[in-house]
Amino acid sequence: MQDKVTEAVRKQYEAYSYPPPIEDAEQFLKQWGPLTCDPKFAGIQLWPEGRPRQDLRILCAGCGSSQAALIALNNPDCSVVGIDLSEASLAHSNRHRERHNLGNLELRQLSLLDVGELDRTFDLIICTGVLHHLPDPDAGLKALADVLDTRGSMAIMLYGTAGRAGVYLLQDILRRLGAGPDAEGLKLARELLKFVPRNHYLIAPTGRLPQDLADDAGIVDMLLHPQDRAYSVPQIMAFVETAGLVFSGWSDNALYCADRFLSGELLERVLALPAVEQWAIIDNLTLINGRHDFFVRKPQSARFLTCFDTDDFLSYVPLIRAGTRLGGDANALMLTRPSLHGELAIPISRAEAMLLEQADGNRTVSHILSHPSFARLPPVQRTNFARDACERMWRSGHVLFGRSGT
Ligand SMILES: C[S@@+](CC[C@H](N)C(=O)[O-])C[C@H]1O[C@@H](n2cnc3c(N)ncnc32)[C@H](O)[C@@H]1O
Repeated sequence: MQDKVTEAVRKQYEAYSYPPPIEDAEQFLKQWGPLTCDPKFAGIQLWPEGRPRQDLRILCAGCGSSQAALIALNNPDCSVVGIDLSEASLAHSNRHRERHNLGNLELRQLSLLDVGELDRTFDLIICTGVLHHLPDPDAGLKALADVLDTRGSMAIMLYGTAGRAGVYLLQDILRRLGAGPDAEGLKLARELLKFVPRNHYLIAPTGRLPQDLADDAGIVDMLLHPQDRAYSVPQIMAFVETAGLVFSGWSDNALYCADRFLSGELLERVLALPAVEQWAIIDNLTLINGRHDFFVRKPQSARFLTCFDTDDFLSYVPLIRAGTRLGGDANALMLTRPSLHGELAIPISRAEAMLLEQADGNRTVSHILSHPSFARLPPVQRTNFARDACERMWRSGHVLFGRSGT
């Protein structure tokens, strides 16, 4: 028997499966590419030291209507277990399973709090948009940590406090009006949306209403949820630490990158702070993070974290992020890549462009620096140039780093 809150959450997702079910998983992957938590997309971010095995054991905790099926379809070598409270969402996942003959996908109606009942461990746990709906998110993360393999990695998405300020103001209004996650509540929410002024926090971050509000399930999930909380950057760090885990990086550093939003003395001052402080400042300033997508690991495997404080970075293997291109002209080179928030561009020098030219996904930074173009520089200057360049391109998310021997 579930507690009252969990039962209310289950009921909501029975009536309004979210995200709205995808019709054809194969077509979806063709059109949009892999999910950002898919090991085929995020491999180096999940395991900078190298993927632990080809046949990964993957858990999608709170898989909703399609996520586990998309992962199973795109990773036929791996076994995927999808668990969820909602029978309706699992039924849709099962339709994907039958349509695409996904023998590697197992589906269970189970609370992630009871995941220990499966009596297995996993190399990858994907839990996006779920833990913030639990009455006790700490207990949820702890339950998942208990079934994560020592060398495993977890991809998590939690709501962001700053980016969702407007959502909570509207939730508050609807609560006062007695609206619940049902047809009557939906009618009230739709009526209320007509009166939201252009300068409201709900609209301000992007200049328009969030896309999720286009359909019933999205409105219920965003505005009428019986249980939902959000996290600031420091709260995420505390949340991860409380579960005995280690934060290993954002899915896209650009969303927390001081260089993108500040300049001059203020930028220098912010860059002198520890990374978590920088991220917290940018999160509060920009309001762009209605969601935080990030990875966590067990302390035993956290020695592989990307860090530029020591010369250890010389042994990293730079990998240029998919979609990144060199543009501009000879006097003003730019590194650009597409993102959810439009084209992301950073200026780079000719020397930095040369460094990237040598980054083939196999060579280490130190190997690249042995190239004749850099060999003429004194060693300390060469290392400092590479450190600054690599760290800046890592901060903007254009370049990712793995470990030698991957
Ligand atoms: C917002 S949806 C996210 C679905 C999917 N992870 C995604 O990102 O597309 C949240 C899902 O978590 C499920 N859920 C909520 N609490 C849960 C719990 N305690 N255990 C398992 N699933 C849960 C809901 O039923 C719902 O399908």
